[in-house]
Amino acid sequence: MTDRRRIVAGNWKMHGSLGAARELAGALAATAHEPGRGLPEVIVFPPFPHLDAVRRVLEDAESAGTLAVQLGAQDVSSQGEGAHTGDVSAGMLADCGCSHVLVGHSERRTAFRESDELVATKFQRAADQGLIPILCVGETLREREAERTGEIVLRQLAAVMELCGAGGFTRAVLAYEPVWAIGTGHTATPEQAQEVHALLRGEIARTDAKISAGLRILYGGSVNGANAAALFAQPDIDGGLVGGASLDAKEFLRIITAV
Ligand code: PGA
Repeated sequence: MTDRRRIVAGNWKMHGSLGAARELAGALAATAHEPGRGLPEVIVFPPFPHLDAVRRVLEDAESAGTLAVQLGAQDVSSQGEGAHTGDVSAGMLADCGCSHVLVGHSERRTAFRESDELVATKFQRAADQGLIPILCVGETLREREAERTGEIVLRQLAAVMELCGAGGFTRAVLAYEPVWAIGTGHTATPEQAQEVHALLRGEIARTDAKISAGLRILYGGSVNGANAAALFAQPDIDGGLVGGASLDAKEFLRIITAV
């Protein structure tokens, strides 16, 4: 089995003030850890206006023996540049020090009616600028109850595969986030999540076994310090995309150490 380095990603969504973002970043980046303990990659996703301030805090704190924290954005424009009021391009995010970007989060797919094709274009834009896209897929409760989970997540994945091929996942990350588990306190059981993760990995393996074996697939949806270890123990769960619990430095660190 390929040794995949785990990832714990904190999606701060539209929460908090600039001061709170600085404080949270500072608390994470100042955390001492014992080298060689096999910590996961840690990435935080602050709101756009807080990116630069958080980047500074992370850079200032970066020194031997403290947790390395990478920076990501919660969304990206599907356009390169130009007259797109309100949009933020992948190039701008890279300039701001972002290494990662979320694409296709269910809150964007639902509230902003982002189609699978639009999400795929965003994924490609991000990758073209050297960012690592984290593609989020997941079914609603109604879709799960209708036993359509596999169909939905494979359709969402297919749009990106069509545009970028399996090669698009050489660096990219996948995140399975059942919509019914996001912010609800209802977590998928480790077995439910594992089943979907294995399905997604298998789908990519049909095109490229090597890329599939190295691909990190995160679980998201009400992950917390108490349930993280059981989820991360599953063979195809390579870490977590954490919303609510990432806003509390202590709780987020509990998840990081659960890996
Ligand atoms: P949650 O959010 O952990 O608060 O459920 C996860 C996400 O939306 O990425």
